[in-house]
Amino acid sequence: MKRWRISQILGQEGQTLINQEITVKGWVRAFRSNRFIQLNDGSCMASIQAVVDFEKFEEALLKRITTAAALSVKGILVESQGSGQTVELQVSEIEILGDANPDDIQKTVMQPKRHSLDFLREQAHLRFRTNTFGAVFRIRHAVAYAIHKFFNDKGFYYIHTPIITGSDAEGAGEMFRVTTLDPKNPPLNEDGSVNFKEDFFGKSVNLTVSGQLEGELAALALGQIYTFGPTFRAENSNTSRHLAEFWMIEPEVAFNDLKDNMDLTEDFLKYICNYILINCKEDVQFLSERDAQEQSQKPQNERNEMSLMERLDFVINNPFKRLTYTEAIDVLINSNHYKKKKFKYPVEWGIDLQSEHERYLVEKEFKCPVILTDYPAKIKAFYMRLNEDGKTVAAMDVLFPGIGEIVGGSQREERYDLLRQKCEEFGIHPDELWWYLDTRRFGSVPHAGFGLGFERMVMFVTGMSNIRDVIPFPRTPQNAEF
Ligand code: 4AD
Ligand code: MG
Repeated sequence: MKRWRISQILGQEGQTLINQEITVKGWVRAFRSNRFIQLNDGSCMASIQAVVDFEKFEEALLKRITTAAALSVKGILVESQGSGQTVELQVSEIEILGDANPDDIQKTVMQPKRHSLDFLREQAHLRFRTNTFGAVFRIRHAVAYAIHKFFNDKGFYYIHTPIITGSDAEGAGEMFRVTTLDPKNPPLNEDGSVNFKEDFFGKSVNLTVSGQLEGELAALALGQIYTFGPTFRAENSNTSRHLAEFWMIEPEVAFNDLKDNMDLTEDFLKYICNYILINCKEDVQFLSERDAQEQSQKPQNERNEMSLMERLDFVINNPFKRLTYTEAIDVLINSNHYKKKKFKYPVEWGIDLQSEHERYLVEKEFKCPVILTDYPAKIKAFYMRLNEDGKTVAAMDVLFPGIGEIVGGSQREERYDLLRQKCEEFGIHPDELWWYLDTRRFGSVPHAGFGLGFERMVMFVTGMSNIRDVIPFPRTPQNAEF
């Protein structure tokens, strides 16, 4: 018999199923009074109520209907007599598909009560079964889908860039090495260094930090492309916003300049928020209430005044504030916060902005998403286009309330000589990137792109405050358990 998903039964389609016999499969959330089973199959937040006439079933079977057990139930779908649900299932057949020992359940996150996120993280293999993580991962899927839809509808092509690479696109040197050499006994050069010529690829390679450089090659032929893949950074930063393995979306567009790039980013981020508000209402509503409860436990001055729903609405309906790095430094230096010496780190032209500076601009000064542009060349990657002033580059960072940097991007240096010179200044041997530099010799054009941190976006639309709670199996320093 066909298995109906609970989202179908409780949705529009369900009305056509009234008085029909249907089968539902899922996991028990609760079993009350030997009569009411709450069954959830992950298709939506809500469970279906399956009503059992206990006189018709053997006690041995009823005993096995415990929290977390997997069941297949067959019965007639009827309008519900009780409050709290519109329809319910009058059960005629029950099959136990998988038992769950109640004593073992006690120790897990499936025990139906509120658990701390830390505890849930220790059981990342089971947390999918909770309401919060069910909502988070359904939304995560919807964000990924919305991203593909946005670009597909605009005529972008999805390009798969390599995960194993020999180049360090961002030049930050935070890479994981990939090797098959024997760590105890590697082949050595005469000077004692490891001879990677004998390694699997005949050279030293790493997990990629970004697909941008390869993406640019595709954009300079296909016009507009995007990548969407895993990226890896071995930065030892144990914060609520950093992962060692995260997903990034990197669009790249031939003929776009920095202004076009900002417009595309803003459209894109608004589109995602809008898509989620419309298509994930029930889950957003649940997380919004969860977030409100969490906010109410914080000290007054740290609370977010807007609810999750309002924050999404706000992003959709307000233009992002755009200003240059130089203007932002002025704003910071002229702030009372600065005058009262409340910043921990110094503020002067040329510094890499710290998260306290970014948060001040977004949360205190402008109170909306901010796009900062034209950063000093020295603190940004080698591939960014040098501005007329000779000291800043056509970079842009998008800063979001509660998140900080969510997008980093730029117009690219399309002039061969300048790009080659930049490589040398940044200590990159042009021979290593000959294939990248080559694109600037055969019909080079202005082009621009950016990278969106997928998990940071999911944080924003779910209201979760720790990045470890929006990826199924987080990888952070000293942590790759699951
Ligand atoms: O600013 P980033 O380093 O930019 C790039 O990698 C460029 N190649 C993008 C481009 O122009 N095509 O990273 C882009 C975004 C950041 O803004 C942030 O949202 C996210 O990736 N990100 C991280 N997310 C989670 N954990 C980390 N360790 C992250 N590092 C960057
Ligand atoms: Mg960045």
